[in-house]
Amino acid sequence: MKEIKTIGVLTSGGDAPGMNAAVRAVVRTGISKGFRMMGIQRGYNGLLNGEVYEMNLRSVSEIIHRGGTVLYTARCLEFKTEEGQKKGVERCRELGIDALVVIGGDGSFRGAKALASYGVPCIGIPGTIDNDIACSEYTIGYDTAMNTAVEMIDKLRDTTQSHDRCSVVEVMGRNAGYIALNVGIATGAIATLIPERPYDLERDILDRMRFTQKTGKKHFIIIVAEGVGHAQDIANEIQAVSGIDARATILGHVQRGGSPTLRDRVTASSMGYHAIYLLERGIVNRVVAVSADQIVDYDINVALAMHKTIDTTLLDVSSTISI
Ligand code: ADP
Ligand code: F6P
Repeated sequence: MKEIKTIGVLTSGGDAPGMNAAVRAVVRTGISKGFRMMGIQRGYNGLLNGEVYEMNLRSVSEIIHRGGTVLYTARCLEFKTEEGQKKGVERCRELGIDALVVIGGDGSFRGAKALASYGVPCIGIPGTIDNDIACSEYTIGYDTAMNTAVEMIDKLRDTTQSHDRCSVVEVMGRNAGYIALNVGIATGAIATLIPERPYDLERDILDRMRFTQKTGKKHFIIIVAEGVGHAQDIANEIQAVSGIDARATILGHVQRGGSPTLRDRVTASSMGYHAIYLLERGIVNRVVAVSADQIVDYDINVALAMHKTIDTTLLDVSSTISI
């Protein structure tokens, strides 16, 4: 393997609060270890288009507390093709980039795996609010997104309660119910629907509402992960069958923004540091992860072949307490 002197860093896929803290950590650790650091804008698009600039210690000032990503992010269809990936390898050669740190989700890591297979050493850092990266117990942005959702739903509860209504709240998570599961507990939702567990309208929602009504409860919060279905459809069904005034609220992309929490800042900083620690030692093609609260790393092929199962114990906790 060629000696690594210059390292590129990019953010890819959906942004997540804490990505900036990770970029900062990668750049500052890299510089402290004597590497030349290059920022690549707009994910793999920027690599293909040459949107690349040298970063110094001050390039990452004033960003630890900011959501979004100063490197911008994008999705790049071309990079899913062999031609696009080979072009990426060529660009790395032209730009003098010897290794790449990719901050993103599973899809972004598949791009990194392709680059690695063509000889560009890569390190992946999990950045996605969904917490759906199999090899890691935690992904950057997850904590902030959940706290944002809880803050919004606390506000929603006020009006839901005043009107004796049912609020069906859609939170993000196309394929994963991690956000929904935790937010459901934290907001006292009477029902939480996640893609990993099929639901039954009568059993999981309406029966619970009827039972609770008998005990004097008149307002209801229901959390639906995006991957389950449309909140509006579920609200319509509830209103049609129960007669209770039901409203749908889609929290949407607000969950992806905002100042990262302490947990996201610290995790991102530790992961960014670890990525450079690996490259400094010539350990390449790894994904940085959290396991048992420790920062660890896995071979990128192994990481991408792993599966993660959601612990649905929290659903039982929720259905017992939130009644
Ligand atoms: P995430 O990284 O959050 O999972 P995406 O799935 O949208 O987000 O992937 C981000 C980008 O990673 C894609 O736009 C594409 O450029 C690249 N990518 C995704 N899947 C692959 C793949 N199978 N091979 C190569 N590149 C991929
Ligand atoms: O992967 C993060 C995520 O926010 C998902 O929860 C959501 O389904 C998706 O990205 C939305 O992506 P887009 O930015 O394309 O709307």
